[in-house]
Amino acid sequence: MSLKQIFESHPERRYIMFGGKGGLGKTTFSAATAYWLASQGKRVLVFSVDPQASLTDIFQMDIFGKGAVKIMDNLWAQEIDADKHIKQYQNEIRQKILDMYGLDQVPDEIEQYIQAASAEPAMEESAIFDAVVDIVVEGNYDYYIYDLVPLGHALYYLSMGKVYDEWINKITQLREEMREYEEMVSRLKREKETEEDAILTELQYIRSRINASSRILTDREKTAFFFVIIPEEMILLDTQKAAGLFAKFDVPISGYVVNRVVPQELMDQEIPAYLRNRIEMQGRYMTEIQQMFGKDVAAYVPELERDVTGLPMIEKLAKIMYGE
Ligand SMILES: Nc1ncnc2c1ncn2[C@@H]1O[C@H](COP(=O)(O)OP(=O)(O)OP(=O)(O)O)[C@@H](O)[C@H]1O
Ligand SMILES: [Mg+2]
Repeated sequence: MSLKQIFESHPERRYIMFGGKGGLGKTTFSAATAYWLASQGKRVLVFSVDPQASLTDIFQMDIFGKGAVKIMDNLWAQEIDADKHIKQYQNEIRQKILDMYGLDQVPDEIEQYIQAASAEPAMEESAIFDAVVDIVVEGNYDYYIYDLVPLGHALYYLSMGKVYDEWINKITQLREEMREYEEMVSRLKREKETEEDAILTELQYIRSRINASSRILTDREKTAFFFVIIPEEMILLDTQKAAGLFAKFDVPISGYVVNRVVPQELMDQEIPAYLRNRIEMQGRYMTEIQQMFGKDVAAYVPELERDVTGLPMIEKLAKIMYGE
């Protein structure tokens, strides 16, 4: 099936992801797909968790950390600023501690703990994950296109549920440590024990959100995951391995898109030997791709005359990918 047929025959697949190794064309295909769907009249949000501000580059608009930015009719783009979210967490935690214990300053030990916890990579991942949950749970769009980071990270991202659990454990630990303060403070203020554990309620709420969102991510009905590959040996080997890992996370693979194919027709022209060699090499790997992925190849995308930035180039690519 072609990409267009896949989209047309599965309108229920609203969460679209392009995954693959670094630099193969994930952001490019995300943008082109978002463009095509939007021009079909669908409301589309393409979003990125990449701190490299890749959508800002391809759309040539300042998007990073600005929420959903309108690109054209029906098309919005968003880049999540993880640092900003971490700062918000810190403030929320501080505020909760102040409110719960009636303090007017966060004790030094707790402040140090908050700082240390924020430096953990797990914290950044959770911040990103939480922002993604916010976006997806809101449900304002017909399509959500995740512009993923390279494979290794994407795997990590998909296992985020686990990472988030770690963070929850840390907070639970913090909560236990807080008990000492609690006792001390209530003794000082001669107050009765805190009736309700607000933080625990909060944690349960977070957990329910995680469950909801990881269900979406691995939902075979609503999610389409495409692997981006190019006709080169290392990429094919790595992709095969990765496809196996993704299967473990229950990620439904909808197809493979082969990028940067040098047009075979060039062979009929006067071309330098090195280009001839490249085309022959690609030809060999194209045969392998056929054998490995066969019917699952949804599109072949040629090497274009220049990089894909700005709407006219994105439109040109969308026409190639979606065959108009
Ligand atoms: N078919 C193509 N023809 C010409 N240039 C292309 C093509 N596909 C991608 N590019 C260019 O290759 C570069 C890398 O593409 P892109 O940023 O989409 O890759 P990526 O997989 O998102 O990378 P990363 O892993 O860093 O996020 C970009 O400059 C893009 O414009
Ligand atoms: Mg990218």
